[in-house]
Amino acid sequence: MSLNPKRAVDSLTIGTEHVLPNDTNPLGNLFGGRLLQWMDTTAAIAAQRHSNRVVVTATVNNVSFKEPIKLGSVVTLEAKISRAFNSSMEVFIDVFVEDLVTGKKHRSNEAIYTFVAIDQNGSPLPVPELIPETEIEKARYAGALQRKQLALILAGKMKPHEAQELKALFSKD
Ligand SMILES: CC(C)(COP(=O)(O)OP(=O)(O)OC[C@H]1O[C@@H](n2cnc3c(N)ncnc32)[C@H](O)[C@@H]1OP(=O)(O)O)[C@@H](O)C(=O)NCCC(=O)NCCS
Repeated sequence: MSLNPKRAVDSLTIGTEHVLPNDTNPLGNLFGGRLLQWMDTTAAIAAQRHSNRVVVTATVNNVSFKEPIKLGSVVTLEAKISRAFNSSMEVFIDVFVEDLVTGKKHRSNEAIYTFVAIDQNGSPLPVPELIPETEIEKARYAGALQRKQLALILAGKMKPHEAQELKALFSKD
């Protein structure tokens, strides 16, 4: 299996969903758990495109629900790897909402998930490096190590004093 570096765009995965009554809460808006599932599925495919491996969700780093998404809306999810480490990959998911009546489409949500490539026994496997190309890909790549360190501290897998890049965020020059 080649571990040649890959471009972020090579992992681009686009999912389209229609918000149906079974996806909504009593107010008639998409409920958060369904959106999390759609984001997880789309992001997992992006991580598998990058690694050509089976992947598992290691953590959901961040999800923002900025506004309700109405019944009948069309939801488009765009997932791309933002950085690959040894066996783990950070994935950004941008969510767009389209109102089919007005035809208007806008960006409504963003999420960051982390996946790990594993073998048949569940042991982590190496993944290719990521080459960021656009300005936004480079910005997301640059912040990924700090987000990884924060996630590992919260999971009790890293001591705060070991997180040099994260500490740099809070220290004054
Ligand atoms: C994710 C999993 C494979 C990690 O296994 P592990 O024994 O902790 O393995 P390691 O410590 O070697 O970590 C492997 C990688 O995951 C990363 N990782 C582990 N936990 C993490 C967390 N909470 N946040 C971010 N990254 C994490 C490590 O930093 C490491 O990354 P790297 O190899 O790129 O440096 C394991 O915890 C697992 O299988 N979890 C269940 C996954 C699952 O079932 N998901 C669906 C939930 S319903």
